[in-house]
Amino acid sequence: MEEVERLIREEAQREGSISFARFMERALLEPGLGYYATAQRRAGRSGDFMTAPELHPILGAAIAQLAAATWERLGRPATFRWREYGAGEGTLLLAALDYLAREGHPLLDALEVSVSEANPHRLADLTAALAALPGGGPPLVTPASPPVAGIVVANEFADALPFHVVVGRAAAPGGFTERRVAVDAVTNALTWAEGAPDPGVAERLAPLMAAWPPLAEGQLAEISPATADWAHGLGGELTEGVVIVLDYGREGVALRDPASRMAGTALAYQGHRATADLLSEPGSRDLTAHVDLTLLRTAAEAGGLRHLASTNQAKFLATAGVDGEVARTRTGPAATLEGAIALRSALAQLMDPRRMGGFAVEVFVAGSSPGANTLADPASPLPGTAAPNRPLV
Ligand SMILES: C[S@@+](CC[C@H](N)C(=O)[O-])C[C@H]1O[C@@H](n2cnc3c(N)ncnc32)[C@H](O)[C@@H]1O
Repeated sequence: MEEVERLIREEAQREGSISFARFMERALLEPGLGYYATAQRRAGRSGDFMTAPELHPILGAAIAQLAAATWERLGRPATFRWREYGAGEGTLLLAALDYLAREGHPLLDALEVSVSEANPHRLADLTAALAALPGGGPPLVTPASPPVAGIVVANEFADALPFHVVVGRAAAPGGFTERRVAVDAVTNALTWAEGAPDPGVAERLAPLMAAWPPLAEGQLAEISPATADWAHGLGGELTEGVVIVLDYGREGVALRDPASRMAGTALAYQGHRATADLLSEPGSRDLTAHVDLTLLRTAAEAGGLRHLASTNQAKFLATAGVDGEVARTRTGPAATLEGAIALRSALAQLMDPRRMGGFAVEVFVAGSSPGANTLADPASPLPGTAAPNRPLV
């Protein structure tokens, strides 16, 4: 048994049971032991799941276009921050920087970087990779640095934030109970236990669930106050600029549709395989659920952001202005057959609406200066936010 499982059992036994959010917090983030706290690489072909930046640098180029257009419209501020959540070893950031460098883009001279990355090993990788760039790369500032103009990026971050699992029970207060984690008295294994949420948690969940349709009897649903808190805080991250959140998610109502979501959406990932067994091998599996886009938007707007666009990854890529990059990879002077094939294969996955193309992309504007208002001008949509008229592939 992994040490983190022993710690979780100990806590569940001591408390009688713990919420799934608490289980997840420890399984993923327990210092030195959690899934996202050890040296082992999690994203990528050799890991447990594939993300868009790990598949191909084209998404980095697309977000770089959005960053560059934002910087231009804000009047080219002297400092412009790339603020990234869950940046891992910096694959997306490095792809964006590489694209800007190849374009010889002047934004590079204004750029500084700030990342929130729970894994100290990945943060060290990212720091070393930036330092190895020509000229030492853009300066890395701490997440506590006072806000400046910039872009906030979060790719496949929100789905990893801890969530509670609730169960529809018409007879229970509020119409739900909580699916909690306990230790089986006979087998000593981690097991599910249904019960009332802790009073503080019930108070926190009630307003977040106020707009939900009633859950069917026995229906499971995930809810993440951590996502609401994070999204609410995004408004304070920048003086002006854009926030882009990319993730698998659905509107709150769709996530609670008993016809399609009776068992909720939570999954564990290991070795590119998904399983609904969430309690086995804590610390060795990623734990995740679809992001509630309604909750994300509501919290972000309550925190001061202006919602600009709800789109998906396929549409974002098709309208982000990366045609030049695609043409260069296919037929430019440095084009190779391998590079062209890799791009085509990646675009097929990144733009297929049944695969990553269907991932949600939420874009917000921060600030209310005249420059910030131009970011929200419907007559001149920012890269990635217009309705597409053709696919890239
Ligand atoms: C699914 S991976 C995505 C990595 C990268 N954004 C990508 O698209 O390849 C989630 C990342 O978020 C980090 N992470 C998870 N929970 C976090 C938290 N609470 N704060 C900061 N980083 C976190 C993990 O260490 C991991 O690097």
